[in-house]
Amino acid sequence: MTTDFDNIDYFTDPSLVPDPHPYFDHLRAKCPVIREPHHGVVAVTGWEEANAVYRDTESFSSCISVMGPFTPMPFTPEGDDICAQIDAHRTEIPMFEHMVTMDPPQHTDARSILSRLLTPKRLKENEDFMWRLADRHIDEFIADGRCEFLAAYAKPFSLLVVADLLGVPEEDHEEFREAFGAERPGSRIGSLDHETISVNPLAWADEKFGQYIEDRRRNPREDVLTSIATAKYPDGSTPEVVDVVRTATFLFAAGQETTAKLLSAALRVLGDRPELQETLRADRSRIPNFIEECLRMDSPVKTVFRMARKTTTVGEVDTPAGTTVMVSPGAVNRDPRRFENPHEFDINRRNVREHLAFSRGIHSCPGAPLARVEGRVSVERLLDRLGTIAIDEERHGPREDRRYTYEPTFILRGLTDLHITFSGE
Ligand code: HEM
Repeated sequence: MTTDFDNIDYFTDPSLVPDPHPYFDHLRAKCPVIREPHHGVVAVTGWEEANAVYRDTESFSSCISVMGPFTPMPFTPEGDDICAQIDAHRTEIPMFEHMVTMDPPQHTDARSILSRLLTPKRLKENEDFMWRLADRHIDEFIADGRCEFLAAYAKPFSLLVVADLLGVPEEDHEEFREAFGAERPGSRIGSLDHETISVNPLAWADEKFGQYIEDRRRNPREDVLTSIATAKYPDGSTPEVVDVVRTATFLFAAGQETTAKLLSAALRVLGDRPELQETLRADRSRIPNFIEECLRMDSPVKTVFRMARKTTTVGEVDTPAGTTVMVSPGAVNRDPRRFENPHEFDINRRNVREHLAFSRGIHSCPGAPLARVEGRVSVERLLDRLGTIAIDEERHGPREDRRYTYEPTFILRGLTDLHITFSGE
């Protein structure tokens, strides 16, 4: 079957969801930087070219980082330099309050609050928590011999790791699980207003963190929430409560779904490739490379966006100020000029850590060390405790004809569900 990729709209066509790579390959084969015809987006599918865009914060703004060409812009770009227009309208652009859409100097301030959190000491404590949490989740389903892995493990695990990182007291974890729809079956505590929360769990989290931060400013304690609440900007000034809260709660948005997608991608590979599962069971020191190769092959963030704020070129392509540029980690991580046999899963790949799944430059993912440890701890504990892990063939079909469903989005790549079976301890 040949597909007419030139007439397919990447942003709306559901046929590209199960496997976007033939389309990305098609674009790259024409040129690693190319203007797609449907929305006028300059699409970057080459590794070198992507790196150059990520690092050039003079020419590119992150103001449309998440929604790309669908960001409702409050102005019409004029001239070869739209920095002043972006600045004048910044607060009318959706998601302006989150660091991922900010440019320096606001971005520098927002990130400085995070540096309070992501200290080596905190990451170590967070890892200790992960080992305990992995066991707790496995205890919940191991006796069944099967589970839907996203609901049973990946989603609640990645949620509670962020909660712990932020210092949410353990007695409140169940409430977070419930608010984010990741609760244990039959465990609803019944105290939350589900209609409001299911519309927007992040708004719920904003309110909860507002209470924590105000409390810790009034009554400082020896805890992580106090250190976040009392963090200062680099110039010594104290952030507004609302800015601290946004930095904190954005970690749930940025860190939960992405990591859940990584964990489920990793489990799918283990289920689909029993020989690889054996290799990792025999030698746990290969797990980190395995996780990196999962990040490269199934990059949870498929695309991020920049807006040219000055007229420039990307690769050889003229890019007037106001142009939307799509940099696709999913695509660049399979650029054959960087990765040999890019569509092959290879845990011995020497340059695997050159993948751009976490992006590069000033916005590169600050949660990357955490996500990597989440992957390593989870795979290690699941291999320790579960016997042979297999894909549930009743749900996903036989090995030679698997059926997996992916989330229908142009931004993220991840399974909607993953049914696995295993023998017990
Ligand atoms: C496998 C898991 C993850 C992947 C693939 C991932 C990927 C990314 C990517 C590609 C970006 C850059 C966006 C851009 O350049 O516009 C980003 C930013 C970010 N990520 Fe992650 N992420 C993951 C997990 C996490 C975790 C666990 C956290 C925190 C607990 C986190 C927090 C953030 C934050 C706060 C930003 C914004 C940084 C900034 O704008 O300076 N991420 N992530």
